[in-house]
Amino acid sequence: MAKNIILPDVVCKVEKSGNRYNAWSTDGVKYTSEITSGCRKNAFNGNYLIGRFPSSNGNKGFAWRKITDKVASALENNPSLNTSIDEVSPSVEVPTDHAEVLNFIHSSYSLKPKMLMMSELKWKYLVRSGVRGKNIMMTGPAGCGKTMAAKSVVNSLDRPDYYFNLGATQDPRGTLIGNTHFDTKNGTYFSESLFVKAIQTPNAVILLDELSRAHPDAWNILMTVLDYGQRYLRLDEAADQSTVKVADGVTFIATANIGNEYTSTRVMDKALMDRFTIVEMDVLSEDDESSLLNMMFPSVDTTVLNNVAKIATLTRSESNSDSARITSGISTRTTVELCGLLYDGFTLEEAAEVSIYPQYDSTGGVDSERTFVKQIVQKFCDDGSSDDLFNEDEMATADEDTY
Ligand SMILES: Nc1ncnc2c1ncn2[C@@H]1O[C@H](COP(=O)(O)OP(=O)(O)OP(=O)(O)O)[C@@H](O)[C@H]1O
Ligand SMILES: [Mg+2]
Repeated sequence: MAKNIILPDVVCKVEKSGNRYNAWSTDGVKYTSEITSGCRKNAFNGNYLIGRFPSSNGNKGFAWRKITDKVASALENNPSLNTSIDEVSPSVEVPTDHAEVLNFIHSSYSLKPKMLMMSELKWKYLVRSGVRGKNIMMTGPAGCGKTMAAKSVVNSLDRPDYYFNLGATQDPRGTLIGNTHFDTKNGTYFSESLFVKAIQTPNAVILLDELSRAHPDAWNILMTVLDYGQRYLRLDEAADQSTVKVADGVTFIATANIGNEYTSTRVMDKALMDRFTIVEMDVLSEDDESSLLNMMFPSVDTTVLNNVAKIATLTRSESNSDSARITSGISTRTTVELCGLLYDGFTLEEAAEVSIYPQYDSTGGVDSERTFVKQIVQKFCDDGSSDDLFNEDEMATADEDTY
């Protein structure tokens, strides 16, 4: 009996965009952040619709589930539901009124994921640049949260989003413009890239990850796209249409390792850099690093976590000093990985051996970068893992001090 079937108040189709699975309601509202990634992925792979069902125990909460044939046919016969879907705002949520924009920016800190460590000012600046349709470039050393922050702001803006990893693509023209194909039936034809679709989507937020590692061809293609005065993409391979205009409200967010030690990061063209508003990701302070690790791994001993933060901070300040004996500090990505090992029962010494040391050059023996970092870690292994035990040297020193 159709009457007894519980109906969803929203129905979504899942689309794949880059490596993300986005859920769109029938009238174009994005519900991605409400639905677990597993549920979205299954719906996409299984090619079925999902619906938001009220939870069975009262009016609080809801659950996203597959739309079964039974529910689908009940929906078709239920005009009230169709009306309620139609009533959902058809456009994406971008504040237009100045007061509304102001309010959105200044209350946006609550949208920042708890697990992302970023100052309130930087976060608001990032959100503001996004709302104002600026081209944003997140810069900073490896593993400091650039991609994480860029993805978080994309989620908070709740606008159609597209993800392109330009560092991973070997074929910039194919990725950004499209490919020319040939088949015996149609002859030569041109198929547009997802990027072409992305820039034509009003209010889209387009993530250009690892732009600094991209092929120079990608930078050249992007020059006109990112120029506020031009905003078009040249499709020189398409026969019928030579340029595509960037739609209104499209925001680009790029990430780059600028000025760091990585050789694969090509020096980016000054003219390209000029097209961006730079948001520099800060490397975390010792306190922030400790807070993050304690928040992420509450069951790991706080002293050990704090020691990890200390080790990382020491290596960072050493790498920035004039007489630096190491070229780079330990990144937050590495401290998070290391603490994951601690959580799984490895000792600090073991975790450092597999996650930190391989990042440092061992040539030069006792003068090598690796030896230097090992000495720092070692100091905390003795302090942290055996607080109340003295080793023989310390006993001897303690004895000497007593007399
Ligand atoms: N500021 C931060 N707050 C919270 N977690 C962080 C932060 N920085 C790094 N991390 C941790 O490190 C991981 C890697 O971060 P992310 O991929 O954003 O770095 P990135 O700056 O984009 O690095 P790369 O330059 O290598 O692309 C994250 O998944 C997260 O666990
Ligand atoms: Mg990144």
